[in-house]
Amino acid sequence: MQDLLGKHIVLGLTGGIACYKSAELCRLFVKAGATVQVVMTEAATQFMTPVTMQALSGRPVYVSQWDVREDNNMPHINLSREADAIVLAPCSADFIARLAEGRSDELLSLMCLARPIEQVPLLIAPAMNREMWAHPATQRNLQQVAADGATMLGVGSGWQACGETGDGRMLEPAQLLEDITAFFHAKLLVGQQVLVTAGPTFEALDPIRGITNHSSGKMGFAIARAAREAGAEVTLIAGPVHLPTPRGVRRIDVLSALEMLEAAEREAARASVFVATAAVADWRPASHSDQKIKKDGSGLPPVLNFVENPDILATVARSPRAASGALFCVGFAAESENLAAHAKAKRERKGIPLLVGNIGPLTFGQDDNSLLLVDADGVRELPRAPKLQLARELIAEIAARLPTRTSA
Ligand code: CTP
Repeated sequence: MQDLLGKHIVLGLTGGIACYKSAELCRLFVKAGATVQVVMTEAATQFMTPVTMQALSGRPVYVSQWDVREDNNMPHINLSREADAIVLAPCSADFIARLAEGRSDELLSLMCLARPIEQVPLLIAPAMNREMWAHPATQRNLQQVAADGATMLGVGSGWQACGETGDGRMLEPAQLLEDITAFFHAKLLVGQQVLVTAGPTFEALDPIRGITNHSSGKMGFAIARAAREAGAEVTLIAGPVHLPTPRGVRRIDVLSALEMLEAAEREAARASVFVATAAVADWRPASHSDQKIKKDGSGLPPVLNFVENPDILATVARSPRAASGALFCVGFAAESENLAAHAKAKRERKGIPLLVGNIGPLTFGQDDNSLLLVDADGVRELPRAPKLQLARELIAEIAARLPTRTSA
């Protein structure tokens, strides 16, 4: 998806070994539809050549404030006025100190100082050794730079090029892309606590086997990501799926419907929005064998009995908080036919204000889908699109239906 289409990003590189990741970040920006103008400090050119960054961005790189290519010889003004954002990745400890002091003795810091603060956001991806990161001077400078209006993108933790292990690594390019994409989204859900269930459940028969279904969890994970992009605090209760946790989302892994119910009831107590996308198994084995169920030699299969699982969505929707309007509940319906009729009936049966219908076989495992929104006013279709785009549209629909808040 071209999440950054129409955005112009000035990508600033300062001196650090993490410059090797900036090449990939530049490529991801371009793939996401952005135009990228690279500006490097002299120190950064020790780690990465301007030639590489020019090839990846498709534009000549700027290194010096005395660059004669600009008619007015003011690259610091021209470059900063064109940008939708300036992203410093990697941003070294020294460069953070320069920003804190408002220094402007080379092009990149000069450009940051000359940017119109209200129109051109400055996003910072620090990268340094763990001791440098933890040093009070660095932490003090970071606080100052944030207080002066910059957005901190955080650091990763782990093995560092110096051989030590700890905090201070630059975030991975894909993580930075996710955070920067989120930065540009309208903050429709600030102050909201969004709870999402996603994926299938697994109902164990014995230690080896169980019953489950083909739900991939993709829609629920996309909704969790979109809610986070919109500024909500997000908790994602996930059945067994193979998906990475969206950035900034708190994830709780569960297996069975009973575990999912327990987690959902507990977390719903402090949520303001509940979106149930999980494909919860309707039944679970009536009994669970502690040992593997063996063939008994008779040639007859074992007799398996099932009991119905609790309806997690309906249970949460019956809670006093949901009834009072403090918790807005959204359900999903996977149907095989008569989508509108089944979805309308299901919305009423579950007692929820909004139900999202889709055709099961057309969505399971797919990256795109189409949705039917059913509320008290009627039915509206969100046409086929990537799940993340649909998730963002759904988040906007949910935000528009939330009661106006008097306090955040
Ligand atoms: N759901 C739930 N707990 C269950 C079953 C369903 O929370 N035990 C939620 C799903 O997450 C979804 C909605 O209820 O948001 C509808 O799920 P669906 O499987 O389509 O419907 P069912 O309630 O199982 O109804 P039916 O089998 O009759 O289609």
